[in-house]
Amino acid sequence: MPNQESKKSYKFFASKVFIRTFGCQMNTRDSEVICGLLQKEGYNITDELEKASIVIFNTCSVRQHAEDKVWSEIGRIAKTGSDPKKRGLTPFLPIIGVVGCMAQEHKEKIFARAPGVDFVVGPADIDKIPGILKKIGTVPKKQGQSLLLRKIWETDGDTRPDEIYHEGFYQEKDHAYVVISEGCSNFCSYCVVPYVRGQLHNRNHEDILKEIKEAISSGKKKITLLGQNVNAYNTDGVNFIKLIGLVGGIKGLDEFSFITSHPRDTSINLFKAMRDSEKLKKYLHMPVQSGSDRILKLMSRGYERNFYLDLVSNYRKIVKDGVLTTDIIVGFPSETEKDFQDTYDLVKDVGFNAAYIFKYSPRPDTEAAKLADDVPRAEKEKRHALILELQKKISKRKHD
Ligand code: 5AD
Ligand code: SF4
Repeated sequence: MPNQESKKSYKFFASKVFIRTFGCQMNTRDSEVICGLLQKEGYNITDELEKASIVIFNTCSVRQHAEDKVWSEIGRIAKTGSDPKKRGLTPFLPIIGVVGCMAQEHKEKIFARAPGVDFVVGPADIDKIPGILKKIGTVPKKQGQSLLLRKIWETDGDTRPDEIYHEGFYQEKDHAYVVISEGCSNFCSYCVVPYVRGQLHNRNHEDILKEIKEAISSGKKKITLLGQNVNAYNTDGVNFIKLIGLVGGIKGLDEFSFITSHPRDTSINLFKAMRDSEKLKKYLHMPVQSGSDRILKLMSRGYERNFYLDLVSNYRKIVKDGVLTTDIIVGFPSETEKDFQDTYDLVKDVGFNAAYIFKYSPRPDTEAAKLADDVPRAEKEKRHALILELQKKISKRKHD
């Protein structure tokens, strides 16, 4: 039992929540949503880990490297907690939650691998976190305490309720992320997203517009519309281009942008809408992934190199001074020198403003995981470094 003094400090200490976010902007927004939901229930959000009695990891599964970082950090905090001396308290350990993509992927297996974890919540179940914390109780745990009874997991949800987007918690002062669609139904062969975030689910456009208006009344001037593939947005007769028009018409909004665009769903009409919308930033993040038709096919991307190059040329013609960025994967199974050279040449020819380059990492359940991961690590690293070097030069030239 804590002594009298620590009981006193516990009152102040018990309700502080620290969230560590890994991965993409979707996760950034999900963390805000979780903070908003918890704040409504009376918890305080802190950005000082050592003051938290509840630590939540909002995780990413897109590459093994992203997962490794999370495992090692959970291990560190679960073993020692945050530094109890810094908290001036008896050595309680924080309640630890793992949410997001890794939670969905590993489910209750997380408890076996990381025994310090108390709850596991998938992306579609984040609305249940306040209820779970109530069940667990917010009393911090003691070293060596058996917590089996406290372990809870929620990973069966289908879609999250729209209400959770309206809690009004934002990290930035004048900018807000707004999710327009969750999940993805593209099933690119290397990608774990459809398995951990579910199939594409479009939010109702009226609810999206309502959320943007709320953000504006709380002082936001800029918005980024978020989705794994925003161009596939289409619900109740409103497609993405129509949605852009509706968002552009909102009073009080100065500027907005969107990420991410899948080339297959990107069209000249989108570029025209970008050109014609005054408030829309002339910025397109359109991952090409590879410049080799053979690899694009193996990736199930649904387009060929020339289709992508045509899109780029139309984008440049229609959206004057438009910024263009991309994602690239090197070392996909069976990628030859020639395939890699095709990607290298494409990067050189297109001249992206920025390119995010990744080494292929096999993900469980995906189609590509059935193929031999046969490009040696050293070769992946070499290819990664070569494109990085090339892109650095291009980015510098563009910047100058
Ligand atoms: N291995 C390496 N990179 C990947 N990405 C997605 N899945 C993998 C994987 N299995 C990259 C893609 C995607 C970006 C978000 O992450 O380039 O566009
Ligand atoms: Fe993954 Fe492809 Fe969907 Fe992007 S479009 S989230 S890479 S499946």
